[in-house]
Amino acid sequence: MAVQLKNKRPSWAEPYKIKVVELVRMTSPEDRRKALEAAGYNTFLLRSGQVYIDLLTDSGTSAMSDRQWAGMMLGDEAYAGSENFYHLEAVIRKYYGYRHVIPTHQGRGAENIISQILIKPGDIVPGNMYFTTTRLHQELAGGTFADIIIDEAHDPRSEFPFKGNVDLAKLDALVKQHGAKKIPYVSLATSVNMAGGQPVSMQNLKELYRYTRKHGIRIIHDMTRVAENAWFIKQREKGYAKKSVAEIVREICSYTDGATMSAKKDALVNIGGFLAVNDRKIYQEASNLVVVYEGLHTYGGLAGRDMEAIAIGITESVDDYHIHARIGQVEYLGNKLRDAGVPIVLPIGGHGIFLDARRFLPHLKQLEFPAQALAAAIYLDSGVRSMERGIVSAGRNKETGDHYYPPLELVRLTIPRRVYTQAHMDVVAESIERVYRRRRSVPGLKMIYEPKYLRFFQARFKPFSK
Ligand code: F0G
Repeated sequence: MAVQLKNKRPSWAEPYKIKVVELVRMTSPEDRRKALEAAGYNTFLLRSGQVYIDLLTDSGTSAMSDRQWAGMMLGDEAYAGSENFYHLEAVIRKYYGYRHVIPTHQGRGAENIISQILIKPGDIVPGNMYFTTTRLHQELAGGTFADIIIDEAHDPRSEFPFKGNVDLAKLDALVKQHGAKKIPYVSLATSVNMAGGQPVSMQNLKELYRYTRKHGIRIIHDMTRVAENAWFIKQREKGYAKKSVAEIVREICSYTDGATMSAKKDALVNIGGFLAVNDRKIYQEASNLVVVYEGLHTYGGLAGRDMEAIAIGITESVDDYHIHARIGQVEYLGNKLRDAGVPIVLPIGGHGIFLDARRFLPHLKQLEFPAQALAAAIYLDSGVRSMERGIVSAGRNKETGDHYYPPLELVRLTIPRRVYTQAHMDVVAESIERVYRRRRSVPGLKMIYEPKYLRFFQARFKPFSK
């Protein structure tokens, strides 16, 4: 149902009530100090039982609805041709409009398949900011990622309303330099994660669509958080206030040729994803490749019950009241922190609050891993778990072996969907404000173990002694 916010502003209060609760463990400062040391100062290596409020990610951490749980009981666990697959396929066609669907165990499974099919060694893959797994699969297929997001996205202080937009001049320069034949597709994310959950505007998308049609370049859509992007279009873009999120989502997808989806985010499930394409040939190749990596093309590594939960979750995810409450809660936390003077990325994004670690900890150099150090300090203070999104996540240049030095050095407080209460958000804000008041005492870190791929997951650190 479309929510009209123009004339009256309904509260963002949740359109659900709580039926089951999960008890969490409270921790002492001493417990947390020991746990953080054992985890090498990497919040990814903490055990979740050592965490009070877990804002590590919004991925796979949603609370499913009673309808989704009921759907799980309808799991048709057939190896081939599960009824749940056909339900999922019908829902994807209805809400997103893509013709062919291949389930995968999660988003990166789909990224692997589409990268292998479309990218040849030496190709350039332009995208509106990298995402860790997406870029890695593009590189493993022989491609080189090129960032074509607008400059504002790299500036945490810019309040431009669509910081996820593609800079068409940057894309055009790549086409002129390499030729359109070397560009298999534009990797377009809605609600750009690494920029802070920042949306793409419909106008930008239309312009990109026109440009790519002219040059014969496809658009592959990372639609992991497309409904959140649609909400921002409804709020901020002329002509969309009266449209429903479902209508806007469908329009976004219509300007793209295919999509990879991590259903663990927008689609409100704990596991799952898919690849969706309009081109029949690509579908045929993908349905062949998926049997190598994931499973048969009608289950792709998922149980029938998982596919049922995704189908129902997609339907719930595009409801205006749901998205209003989801983003309303994120904004509630963000406004509290901003009002307290804590440096955060603005505008407030869709799936979390991003602390600007450069401004939070100005006494640390980027190679002292300020965002990693800040995530550790917040955990020590209160047991709130967040995630580094800075130089550790950015990894190394595969040619030179040097670190990438991203302009954004952020700590992400990602809000799981339908999981925490307003009071939990208050606890988080109070803890961060406390750390901010004594920010000068937060020490930098030294990396003492560095894995080869996606190092942020398993790297280990030690604090520099003060
Ligand atoms: N694309 C985006 C924009 C993502 O945020 C993620 C995952 C993926 C692709 C990969 O999907 O995890 O299902 O394989 N993001 C998680 C996060 C891990 O915490 O941001 P996946």
